[in-house]
Amino acid sequence: MTTYLALKYLHVIGAAVLLGTGAGIAFFMLLAHRTGDAATVAAVARIVVAADVLFTATAVVAQPITGTLLAWIVGYSLLDGWLLLSIALYIVTGAFWLPVVWMQMRMRDLAVTAAREGTPLPAEYHRLFRLWFAFGFPAFAAVLAIFWLMIARPPLG
Ligand code: HEM
Repeated sequence: MTTYLALKYLHVIGAAVLLGTGAGIAFFMLLAHRTGDAATVAAVARIVVAADVLFTATAVVAQPITGTLLAWIVGYSLLDGWLLLSIALYIVTGAFWLPVVWMQMRMRDLAVTAAREGTPLPAEYHRLFRLWFAFGFPAFAAVLAIFWLMIARPPLG
């Protein structure tokens, strides 16, 4: 029971970190972008990249580990409909999140250069920002759907 509760505690904290960091990063990046100021974008993007490495990446690795251990302790099969769908959605999230991490690093570098040279944010930055924005929606929607599947555990298939 103690191990179960400890794992569940870590799992729920991990879920909060994933959703919270994701939402926070999106908000701060969007607001920095809206200033149009290269130095502001550079500073915020630098912090955002660090936050993704420290918090999101840790939770991304920990979540399937604590989740699989929980399933094992409680006696769920990973092939149960709600778990299988959650795992598929988790892969979808990762497929959108990994390029986003790269885009944030590239946007940071472009903003640092623009700020140093006193030039406006280049076209490549704006193209990447639009892509970054678009990728956020499916990733965020998938995490919200996983939350619901984990809480409701609907009897699928
Ligand atoms: C990727 C692999 C994952 C696996 C194998 C997994 C597995 C599980 C299992 C088996 C439970 C039920 C524990 C119990 O019956 O007490 C659970 C609960 C939970 N999971 Fe996951 N999980 C995964 C990912 C996630 C993700 C990505 C999130 C959210 C971002 C999440 C959020 C939650 C929450 C909030 C609960 C608690 C639900 C409740 O007690 O009502 N899980 N998970």
